[in-house]
Amino acid sequence: MIYSAVILAAGAGTRMKSRIPKVLHEICGENMIRRVIGEVKASGIGDITVVIGNGWEEVKKNLKDFDVGFALQKEQLGTGHAVQMAEKSLTDEGNVIILCGDMPLIRRYTIHSLMKSHENSNSDITVLTAKVERPFGYGRIVKGSRGELIKIVEERDADDKERKINEINSGVYCFRSNVLKKHLCDLSSQNEQGEYYLTDLVEIGVKNGYIVKTHELIDSEEILGVNSRKQLAEAEAIMRKRIVEKHMDQGVTFINPEHSYIDSDVFIGMDTIIYPGVTLKGNTVIGENCIIGDNSKIVDSTIEDGVEIQYAIIKDSLVKKDTTVGPFAYLRPGSRIGEKVKIGDFVEIKNSVIGDGTKASHLAYVGDAQVGKNVNIGCGVVFVNYNGKDKQKVIIEDEAFIGSNVNLVAPVKVNKRGFVAAGTTVTLEVPEGTLCIGREKQKHVKGWVDRKKLKENKEK
Ligand code: UD1
Ligand code: CA
Repeated sequence: MIYSAVILAAGAGTRMKSRIPKVLHEICGENMIRRVIGEVKASGIGDITVVIGNGWEEVKKNLKDFDVGFALQKEQLGTGHAVQMAEKSLTDEGNVIILCGDMPLIRRYTIHSLMKSHENSNSDITVLTAKVERPFGYGRIVKGSRGELIKIVEERDADDKERKINEINSGVYCFRSNVLKKHLCDLSSQNEQGEYYLTDLVEIGVKNGYIVKTHELIDSEEILGVNSRKQLAEAEAIMRKRIVEKHMDQGVTFINPEHSYIDSDVFIGMDTIIYPGVTLKGNTVIGENCIIGDNSKIVDSTIEDGVEIQYAIIKDSLVKKDTTVGPFAYLRPGSRIGEKVKIGDFVEIKNSVIGDGTKASHLAYVGDAQVGKNVNIGCGVVFVNYNGKDKQKVIIEDEAFIGSNVNLVAPVKVNKRGFVAAGTTVTLEVPEGTLCIGREKQKHVKGWVDRKKLKENKEK
């Protein structure tokens, strides 16, 4: 069977109260329209047309890496009108799946089961439905005494009896393509909203003697339509749960699954433990046996096996095996931290390479640096990388020792096993194996404290 798909994404999304087109709002790090397209593709449909309108430039730009066609709906005159705008891309043979861009939880398996049901009952139109406790806001499925489908009525057009129906229209349909093409022009806008409703094709289909069926979905969660911020949060919570459960199935421990925020594309290795409040975003990969401590946030980064991270923020960086980061550390973009490194509390690293076995245990800023292996970076060390105009580099070679409260004024280099004494401001290259000390010689003034006291007492 040939299938193509039309995804409706032109609506204004008024109820979102947003300047961003509705379908570009994100659920677990991916916007709604990309999710829907992804699932449609995964169900095996290659020919996809997205109907765009409201904020269409933005939506189109956002989807430029997808192989999909677009149809422009300049004025949003309803879901039926939206499909009319995509008419040119409809084939004469086969079937068309129509979906809404605002149902981010739809799964490929569901699209598949709709196709199978459509084929098995030899239908012309199949509507994906679900029974829900709170049908408010959805179109209701009106059936006759023998359970035969009669029509779909929108909430606003429904009478009291119809409003009580708890079987709802998901907004996903399968149409025989030629039936859809033939009757799209029969839609009228004689309803409460003055819109062309796609849903009216059900009644039109029944009246014209076509086979029109429903396919009821058991897991109604999937067809949650996002029209408001409340529903956006609801959808996010469901997606978050799905993602966390997938990782648990693959051997990851979550101390509190409901308080863990993992984007869909994140990978986490076996036996890693995720503590509450952790956020893992974008293209992040976490190795095996890691501890990702409370409230850490890791974005677009790779963390190798056996790493422990506590209360840290890590962006666009790499942390190699068996290293510890935090508590309260900040790895900014371009940081490449070696194996068995210690990045301790209140240490900030930016665009720097840190060699294996190096330690920066507390209160340091390392920016634009290349630091070798087994280097000690003492408390309060500052890599002075910015002269007010541009950034310069600091190079520290293997086994160097940088004492506490040292300033390294870039560009500068400390060669192998160089030893910089505490409190020094380094402006010149430190040769290999050399002590560098640059501070005022300490003076002692004997009896000074007593003399001061005496003077003060006399003045009273
Ligand atoms: C629609 C259905 C309703 C169903 C619900 C499921 C109709 C008339 N109603 O209602 O039966 O229960 O979805 O979530 O179809 N869109 C356009 N152009 C338009 C109008 C809408 O592209 O002119 C797009 C929207 O961007 C959205 C989708 O169609 O992605 C659904 O539109 P929306 O206004 O959200 O319809 P609902 O009122 O939710
Ligand atoms: Ca909707």
